[in-house]
Amino acid sequence: MAAPKLPPLPTDKGVWDEHTLSRRGFLEATLGALAGLGTLLVAVPSVRFLIGNSLEPSTTKWVELGKVADLPAAAVTQVNYSTRATDAWRQVTQRGTVYVSSADGGTTFTALDGTCTHLGCIVQWDEGKGAFICPCHSGYYTREGEVISGPPPHRLRQLAVKVQDGTLLAEI
Ligand code: FES
Repeated sequence: MAAPKLPPLPTDKGVWDEHTLSRRGFLEATLGALAGLGTLLVAVPSVRFLIGNSLEPSTTKWVELGKVADLPAAAVTQVNYSTRATDAWRQVTQRGTVYVSSADGGTTFTALDGTCTHLGCIVQWDEGKGAFICPCHSGYYTREGEVISGPPPHRLRQLAVKVQDGTLLAEI
């Protein structure tokens, strides 16, 4: 960009210096810097608010489902849990339902999250029908959690389990 052509100065006013910042230029640069700083002050917290903790590694929890010796080997057992969790900056109580069963007489266990994969209602185990039934829209699942009929798009979520000191735990 070519430098603007400056009018000649009277001889008693000194000499123009092409590299000297004019008052207008200084004000424009200062206002531009302040505007940029103001934008950053608004943008950084806004982006941080929008993404929340999504970039941080998610934390999973293990919840106790009961003593292995006390769990019925043949039946499907409903376990309701309640645990404290951190949701962004808040401490919240996280509640859920897990169904525990064993296909081999109590040697190994399967834990299914009782949350229906349609819209999140809690399914109920019906021993007579041998199925999990969702009371909201009549979704049916097998004992293993596979969809039989109804609107659920996916099987029930199977949770990792482990035994620690004789207690069965599930990872939620
Ligand atoms: S919420 Fe379970 S079938 Fe709709």
